[in-house]
Amino acid sequence: PLAATGELVAAAAAARGAVAAFNVITLEHIEAVIAGAERVDAPVVLQVSENAVKFRHGRVLPLARAAAEAAERAAVPVALHLDHVRDDDLLRQAARAGFSSVMYDAARLPYQENLAATRAATDWAHAQGLWIEAELGRIGGKNGEAPPDPHAPGARTDPGEAAAFVADSGVDALAVAIGSTHAMTTRTAALDHGLLKRLSATLDVPLVLHGSSGLPDEELTGAVAGGIAKVNIGTALNVAMTGAIREFLAAHPTAADARTYLGAGRDAMAGAVARLIRVLGAVP
Ligand code: G3H
Ligand code: ZN
Repeated sequence: PLAATGELVAAAAAARGAVAAFNVITLEHIEAVIAGAERVDAPVVLQVSENAVKFRHGRVLPLARAAAEAAERAAVPVALHLDHVRDDDLLRQAARAGFSSVMYDAARLPYQENLAATRAATDWAHAQGLWIEAELGRIGGKNGEAPPDPHAPGARTDPGEAAAFVADSGVDALAVAIGSTHAMTTRTAALDHGLLKRLSATLDVPLVLHGSSGLPDEELTGAVAGGIAKVNIGTALNVAMTGAIREFLAAHPTAADARTYLGAGRDAMAGAVARLIRVLGAVP
């Protein structure tokens, strides 16, 4: 059934665990995430990013409606989240499109501008009954940009600054920059677990990990043990899907029916989802 992101994250945090949140681009992604979550009987978040909306020619409803329909029929609780929103027009479509939550992405801006924009987005979101996540520090790696220099000022989330940011913006959850980078196709990143510990001791909102595809299993379990309550995963699904399709087409060079290779891609994604949820220990 359809669930609310805030409730899934709160339940995970109360159990000192994390809920997995997967980015979806196609109908196959949606079906695979739900199939994988059902396989391990765990709640899950389906997230649609602003970039995925751009890929769908700027339209949010095709994915949002497909995700809502699939969520309603799912055997596990499924929440819908609008991810990495920079565009105010898109933000304002969130509630109407059926999302219970949104991530507002202004982390590229200087602190005061990030705070002002996030505060305005939070006021609006709360008036709509939406749960809102924001980012402080630079996780980076989106849209082909180079990962930030971890030693550059502001690249990592500072605990004191984060506490002020959460209090002054009113956000419900915070995405933290602790060593992960978006869009990694190798699982070679390492987290600053000391910083994560200080952040979770300082902040009273759930912490969100982005760029989780780049992390090996032990870093993922370490992140959850360190206080991460929502784990965002995108690229890992695309790696699974594309690898399976590539393999299928190499083995079947005359294949023409799109269902054959899309089916292989969907199966591979469902397997990856089930595996990652198990690694996170996000099975209740
Ligand atoms: O918000 C989305 C996630 O941070 C996904 O990152 O594609 O590197 O796993 P990823
Ligand atoms: Zn992200």
